[in-house]
Amino acid sequence: MEQVINYLKSNKENYIEELKDFLRIQSISTLQEHKEDINNAARFVADKLKAAGMNEVKIIQTEGHPLVYGEWLGAPGKPTVLIYGHYDVQPVDPIELWESPPFEPTIKDGKIYARGATDDKGQMYIHIKSVEAFFKTVGSLPLNVKFLIEGEEEIGSTNLESFINQNLQMLKCDAVLISDTSLFDDGIPTLTYGLRGLCYMEVEVTGPNRDLHSGTFGGAVANPINVLAKIISKLHDKDGKINIPGFYNDVLKLSKAERQNFKYLKFSEKKFARDLGVAELKGEKGFTTLERIWGRPTLDCNGIFGGFTGKGAKTVIPSKATAKISMRLVPYQEPKKIAKLFTKHIKKLAPKYVTVKVSELHGGNPVITPLENQATQAGARAMSKAFGKKCVFMREGGSIPVVATFARKLNASPVLMGFGLNTENLHSPNEHFSLKHFELGLYSSAYFINEYSA
Ligand code: BES
Ligand code: MN
Ligand code: MN
Repeated sequence: MEQVINYLKSNKENYIEELKDFLRIQSISTLQEHKEDINNAARFVADKLKAAGMNEVKIIQTEGHPLVYGEWLGAPGKPTVLIYGHYDVQPVDPIELWESPPFEPTIKDGKIYARGATDDKGQMYIHIKSVEAFFKTVGSLPLNVKFLIEGEEEIGSTNLESFINQNLQMLKCDAVLISDTSLFDDGIPTLTYGLRGLCYMEVEVTGPNRDLHSGTFGGAVANPINVLAKIISKLHDKDGKINIPGFYNDVLKLSKAERQNFKYLKFSEKKFARDLGVAELKGEKGFTTLERIWGRPTLDCNGIFGGFTGKGAKTVIPSKATAKISMRLVPYQEPKKIAKLFTKHIKKLAPKYVTVKVSELHGGNPVITPLENQATQAGARAMSKAFGKKCVFMREGGSIPVVATFARKLNASPVLMGFGLNTENLHSPNEHFSLKHFELGLYSSAYFINEYSA
């Protein structure tokens, strides 16, 4: 192992240069005009997998963005790890708030700034390099590795879901290693054992058949924006509980033991609030902030529009108003079932004098993994070795939709070994990734391969 670690250590500067090339590619999955960049990012990953020593490297076309696959199966009798990550990134707006351009990677104070630095290019790249280091030093891996890197994580992974269902044999593995989550805090080795799921809906309220002069018609018809605002205001009760009938039916209760474990993690609500610039934190009554983020479902309006939203004033009663509403789910809530309950409830709340259309944008299942399994334990040992500290376990409020599919369809244990920080501005201007955690990530990945093979 020493050779592998030393090799990684002496090459980390080169890796950072390569990572910069990767970060220059504008692979924004949601914008069609970036299709060519998406293809370039897939090609970049494929080339690096080949250079690392992987076999059968291929770019697999889907109905959406391509997948990249590679394997090395030279350790018969040993476990197989599937390494998953995503090369697609979120849009960059509001662009004017970036201190350096999002696709010109810039290093400042030991951090690399660029869209995708922490989510997920920087994290994913770690595993390509750790695998390469084994081939360059000992000449082989102590276990079997498959890579599956996708380009649609940020838009719901729909095509990957069907690819998995059709290629169970090709993807067969014992564990799935994923670095697309965060550390609990700077320098703290952390494994994530739970992710929230997602049910993302859109509600469109239509009133009059066209926009109207708000003086001539104001008082005669209901305003769709006002109606929509009223509907939204009825979705929570005074204690912050979600009012949709049946919504909590399948929620896995937080156990006493788990609540205790959350308490052991030293989380400062004060510091958290200060960092966010809010006077006070707010959420469902009866739960701590960590419990609310990690173990309780939520409902939030993510966007709302209608009428005149430009600069200045225009007196108008709009014909339509729309809200994008997401619900974060916990085990064992099912996105499809929640979408039905939501739709039914919104329809019930809608007054006769407007029409309401409810549609489903995307969803993903929540995940919780047992801590006792061998892959997770190997992950904890690996991170502890790399960071020189005891590994902590946490859940995460964000979602990676395909993880539940890996667990269900491949019957493999997900190991969520993330190296980001939730303060690294993912999905936001000035996204960055700590180069210290990049380096510790390289060692963690190499140690994991070694520990899990034993
Ligand atoms: N890597 C994130 C998920 C994440 C965020 C994990 C923060 C840990 C900490 C992932 O790329 C992501 O953004 N997921 C989306 C999923 C959605 C677009 C289907 C999310 O959670 O909103
Ligand atoms: Mn991600
Ligand atoms: Mn993301």
